[in-house]
Amino acid sequence: MDSYRIGYGEDAHALAPGRPLVIGALTIDGSPVGTVAHSDGDVLLHALSDALLAAFAMGDIGQYFPPSNPNYRGLDSRVILQTVLQRVADQVGAYRIVNLSAVVVLDQPRLGPTRRDIQRQLAGELGIDASRVGVTFKTSEGMAPDFIQSRVTVLLQTE
Ligand code: C5P
Ligand code: MG
Repeated sequence: MDSYRIGYGEDAHALAPGRPLVIGALTIDGSPVGTVAHSDGDVLLHALSDALLAAFAMGDIGQYFPPSNPNYRGLDSRVILQTVLQRVADQVGAYRIVNLSAVVVLDQPRLGPTRRDIQRQLAGELGIDASRVGVTFKTSEGMAPDFIQSRVTVLLQTE
């Protein structure tokens, strides 16, 4: 019998000059600031990976990739996501991602022009159509200029 699972995840990082800004596996060219993180600091992929684990009550990415482990310095977050997708498959068997909805809170730079690229990038990582990947942006209205946050909800269908 088909069944559905919903997952929700969040992540946040500080921003600082001279670091890469990676959002949804897309490096935002020309950004004056980037995330302060042990990995590549991709808040969207971290929130998505937590959402996938949470959908099946499998904990969170800190258990699989402890930030204290020096091996994970500069880690490409696509590795985190692909590991999580595989762990979920190992535990629950065949499943599909029905759709996801991602929010990024960031004052600068403006991300509107990169929305389609981020959608495409995420869709490629997940093996789904870009029409199933919703991506919205919000500023903090200047209240948190050195901060980036992402929140992701995902709907999954198991067989
Ligand atoms: O947060 P706020 O409501 O002011 O956002 C207004 C618009 O700015 C939204 O349409 C959003 O897509 C866009 N935006 C953006 N890049 C950001 C933050 C918001 O393109 N970093
Ligand atoms: Mg993170």
